[in-house]
Amino acid sequence: MKKSEYELRKIYAGVFDKSTLLSLERLMRGGYLEELESMISTGKEANVYHGCMGEKEIAVKIYAIDASSFKNMEKYILGDRRFKTWRNRRQLVYTWAQKEYKNLARVHGFIECPRPHQAYRNILVMDFIGRDNIPAPRLKDSPPKNPKEYFNKIVGYIRGMYERGLVHADLSEYNVLNTGEKPVIIDLSTGVLLDHPLADKFLKRDIYNICRYFRSEGVDCDEKEVLAEVKKISRGNF
Ligand SMILES: Nc1ncnc2c1ncn2[C@@H]1O[C@H](COP(=O)(O)OP(=O)(O)OP(=O)(O)O)[C@@H](O)[C@H]1O
Ligand SMILES: [Mg+2]
Repeated sequence: MKKSEYELRKIYAGVFDKSTLLSLERLMRGGYLEELESMISTGKEANVYHGCMGEKEIAVKIYAIDASSFKNMEKYILGDRRFKTWRNRRQLVYTWAQKEYKNLARVHGFIECPRPHQAYRNILVMDFIGRDNIPAPRLKDSPPKNPKEYFNKIVGYIRGMYERGLVHADLSEYNVLNTGEKPVIIDLSTGVLLDHPLADKFLKRDIYNICRYFRSEGVDCDEKEVLAEVKKISRGNF
């Protein structure tokens, strides 16, 4: 470990609440995280940091306990057979972090997304998408040079997730990073299994968002065709 826990406490005491600080220490002791280096993003639901573990760059997503919107999260998690019920907001956020971990683990290797390393309480550690401390930009901020190729790849990812039994449920140009070579899907916390009552509605919305974005980039795309392709190929596997 590069810094002692005491030093870390001094650095982060003003940034994180006590419970998050303890969780970070736990992850450090477990060998999942050596150092947090900089903030990549601040948001309503979570802050994302760039960190390191040995030579490896990692991304650390810390979900806010207080700011999280209970109602919105419940829509994506109620009735999910993978999780027990929760008693309060804190437990719901912990479950939410587990959900993103499990969703990433389910599809990693089948589509391009960060490999999840560990989820502990409200913290998720995963692969860093980017290079030399610089995160890959979102598709929204960095449109592809070859939109048709990216569109086809993303349709392939939607199909890949579907084949693994998952619908992303918040897919758009905001949750795709552009490495320059390929699109990488992130933010899978909303992802639902195919037997979720709203899975089909979420799938159609994901396809709608992706088609809307790529149409604005000059790609001729059709939602119905994409939906048929995602479902046809998947059915062929059963
Ligand atoms: N693995 C990663 N590698 C590099 N950057 C990442 C990674 N994960 C997230 N980011 C960056 O952090 C931002 C927010 O991440 P993400 O979309 O997962 O959180 P969020 O739930 O949308 O947060 P909020 O809605 O509160 O902004 C992303 O847009 C991206 O810039
Ligand atoms: Mg996001």
